[in-house]
Amino acid sequence: KYLKDDEVSEECLSLLPTLPSERGWVSSSLYNYQGFWHNARQLQGVISCQKHFQAQETDILLVTTPKSGTTWFKSLLFTLINRTRFPPTQHDHPLRSNSPHMLVPFMELNLYVNHDQNPPDLSSFTSPRLFSTHLPYKSLPKSVQDSPCKIVYICRNPKDAFVSLWAFTNQLRLEEMGVNSLEQVFDQFCNGVSLCGPFWDHVLSYWRESLKNREKICFLTYEEMKEEPGVHLRKLGEFLGCPFSLKEEDEGLVDGILEICSFEKLSNLKVNIEGKLPSGEKNSAFFRKGEVGDWKNYLTKEMVERLDKICEEKFNGSGFKF
Ligand code: A3P
Repeated sequence: KYLKDDEVSEECLSLLPTLPSERGWVSSSLYNYQGFWHNARQLQGVISCQKHFQAQETDILLVTTPKSGTTWFKSLLFTLINRTRFPPTQHDHPLRSNSPHMLVPFMELNLYVNHDQNPPDLSSFTSPRLFSTHLPYKSLPKSVQDSPCKIVYICRNPKDAFVSLWAFTNQLRLEEMGVNSLEQVFDQFCNGVSLCGPFWDHVLSYWRESLKNREKICFLTYEEMKEEPGVHLRKLGEFLGCPFSLKEEDEGLVDGILEICSFEKLSNLKVNIEGKLPSGEKNSAFFRKGEVGDWKNYLTKEMVERLDKICEEKFNGSGFKF
């Protein structure tokens, strides 16, 4: 499903031996590049994206830590910004027949992953262009950092994000590789070795930037959205320069968007039950439970204490905690 390490570009291939590496969760290895862990194929996407991506002022970037509800927020942002063109009640709304991952592609995982020499053609994207990424702040293409384009950043309680990542990556592993035990990858997660980890460094990089520039970065958690979806969807509309009008409020558009993007609705669509992404993942793999606090069903008391202690130390003094 993932390209093997030897299937990446020459440039990336020659870089790999110079980078710290650790056992991968899905592919054989993870490599540390600019302080964060990537598999080889993704690393090629990261480098290519850094080299080629030119931000436009009107761009919107959805940045997430893996398994923080990217699929949900891709759906929400796509529906929010395109609500005039595609009203959520429309029977052939694009979300009803397309995976959210096809409507809002990942930069380093989709668009740039096979484009080392030539940048991909983005001319079919209409303004405002909406992209997604797991890149940490300092690995974002320079043009994104320098541009007034908008960033919506989503993270999730690390205990739920970890359990979700463990379950997801086990689905992606080839059968002959067997599954990763919870204990083994928990240890890696605690040591910071997870896709685009260390988890806390990723979160803190955006938290700090969001404090410096609230116009540019909207920092939100999965749990906050679950708790008050209407409040945060309205805030996102304002942040992205497309607030709900009184007429739209009267028409119940906020609830309409939340409804079409709900776990129930999306996970029961044929496309998300039977479909596959071009990169091989089943669309259904992105819908598991969609709940807050599922970690209680998986983590032991010792695991919880260990992860809580790490997070307490890492987030101490930052003004942010889960
Ligand atoms: P669980 O594994 O805890 O169920 P990502 O999209 O970043 O890969 O994150 C996947 C997580 O988001 C999974 O969490 C998945 O079930 C949950 N999810 C997917 N769609 C959702 C939705 N519409 N509403 C809430 N959660 C959703």
